[in-house]
Amino acid sequence: MRIAIFGASGFVGSNIAHHLARNPAYETRLFDLEERKLALRFENESYDFEPVSIANGNPRVDEIVSESDLVFDLAAYVHPAMFLARPLDVVQLNFFDCLNVVEACVRHRKRLIHFSTSEVYGKAHGSSDPFREDTTDLVLGPVGKTRWIYSCAKQLLDRMIHAHGEEHGLDYTLVRPFNFVGPLMDKYSREWRHDDNPRVFANFMSALVYGRPLQLVEGGRSRRCFTHIDDAVAAIQAIIDHPEAMSRQVVNVGNPENETTIRGLAELMSARYRAVCPAGPAPRILDVAARDFYGDGYEDCDRRLPDISKLRAIGSVPPAGAGGNGAFVDGLFPAASQTSGRHSGRLTMLV
Ligand code: UGA
Repeated sequence: MRIAIFGASGFVGSNIAHHLARNPAYETRLFDLEERKLALRFENESYDFEPVSIANGNPRVDEIVSESDLVFDLAAYVHPAMFLARPLDVVQLNFFDCLNVVEACVRHRKRLIHFSTSEVYGKAHGSSDPFREDTTDLVLGPVGKTRWIYSCAKQLLDRMIHAHGEEHGLDYTLVRPFNFVGPLMDKYSREWRHDDNPRVFANFMSALVYGRPLQLVEGGRSRRCFTHIDDAVAAIQAIIDHPEAMSRQVVNVGNPENETTIRGLAELMSARYRAVCPAGPAPRILDVAARDFYGDGYEDCDRRLPDISKLRAIGSVPPAGAGGNGAFVDGLFPAASQTSGRHSGRLTMLV
């Protein structure tokens, strides 16, 4: 099977690419603007990469799709800070540019696995019902709350893909990731910058290692289900392996066992860091207002709990019971022998 991955050099893309490229049953070709994370992920292993932009109707996208059996599109801007800082770029890439890939798959009748987002579900408004792909309403805030522009753009593309399935028989699976964490996540930096602000796990990890306070937005009341990237990659493999069951389906990929408030995450990561790096800087937690942290136009998703019945039906079951004991963060900390307070080992891959 010939597999093409657009957006292969992002966090999720590089981990999926590394997994698929090692399977001799697949011929896996990787495409992105640059290959920095791929080079880190593959280290000394070889891989098939070509720099390709999916923007401006690039004809190379059409050629690549025509030569493939399965197409992944993971190209996306996914950081909430960016939704507020560069909303037009967010729509351009997440909707218009990705639509080029979708339309090429329609033209050449190719199977598409497109990465949507758990953010399309929007606000839970305090409900404890899990988000179900085919029945849950998608609830966003008003236009002036720019945070939702990403969710809205991604949702419209989900609807376009669904419509292409109905009208043109497009064979697709829409994947909705729930807060994947792991190596090669967002930028990992000594200084925190308002305009270059990674997602929470990478931000907390950087803060711990560099002795900055963990900044807790609005008391850290919101809840997320964190999903280890290796579990996510296993779920993607199950989706590849069940083309009929997964055809024209929206599929949540997440671990409902790993639900925590963001304050709980801060406390868990601090305790774990203290245990593995006793000589490192003492963790500190600092409450911050959303406006100071993100700027105007921010609203939060209060809870994101996935229903994963569809994944379970194809035999993909995430590890149970990790939430309470924090096992999901352990492998991501530096080994106890590397406790100088500087990063090392797997942690260096959180770039
Ligand atoms: C983001 C994207 O919007 C989604 O598209 C993406 O699917 C999702 O991450 C993901 O990783 O799967 P979100 O969970 O809101 O959504 O992003 P984070 O930046 O990780 O924020 C999570 C929570 O932590 C929010 O409540 C935020 O306010 C809070 N936060 C974030 C902090 O308290 N401190 C920080 O330093 C960063």
